[in-house]
Amino acid sequence: APEALDALMSSHIAEYPDFPEPGILFRDITPLLRDADALRTVIRHWASVVPADVEVIIGTEARGFVLGAPLAYELGVGFVPVRKAGKLPGTPRSRTYDLEYGTATIEIAEGALAPGVRTLVVDDLLATGGTAAATVALARELGADVLGAHFLIELSGLAGRERLGDLPVTALWSID
Ligand code: PRP
Ligand code: ADE
Repeated sequence: APEALDALMSSHIAEYPDFPEPGILFRDITPLLRDADALRTVIRHWASVVPADVEVIIGTEARGFVLGAPLAYELGVGFVPVRKAGKLPGTPRSRTYDLEYGTATIEIAEGALAPGVRTLVVDDLLATGGTAAATVALARELGADVLGAHFLIELSGLAGRERLGDLPVTALWSID
């Protein structure tokens, strides 16, 4: 039930004011991750709302890995990492973007996604949408079909979904 998921989320996501910089209210997912039952409940629920024809989950370093990989495993599909700059071998494609607290560069391996493959971009949290927009752009640069973007948490006050244009956006827990 949605109320049960809301209760689980509000009791397992911690808040830290002024981290990592003044004015940011940081939402910490580690209490959820360390609770076996809560983690399994969330991943199983998430798997039940993913488009049925997804072939690959794309997760963005680092928290997008922690949730995206078990989600892919639960769905029985592959996982492709989008990494912070300098971590991937070969000749990766790069994007630099702004996020709620700073700026970053992320990369995807050349050839990681077959043209036309049906993908879903997954991350723990949607804030300004900078990270997700850059991840979607990298996936599309390789020719992937991005079906949507899914988040555990959406900070709705930051209007991140507007950064993603017409892309369907789903959040398991939307808060202001
Ligand atoms: C956090 C979070 C998202 C992003 C959201 O990642 O996991 O990826 O910020 O912010 P945005 O919507 O404003 O772009 P962070 O870059 O802090 O990296 P981490 O996952 O390695 O902690
Ligand atoms: N990433 C961007 N904004 C964030 C926030 N407020 N809490 C946790 N992760 C974030």
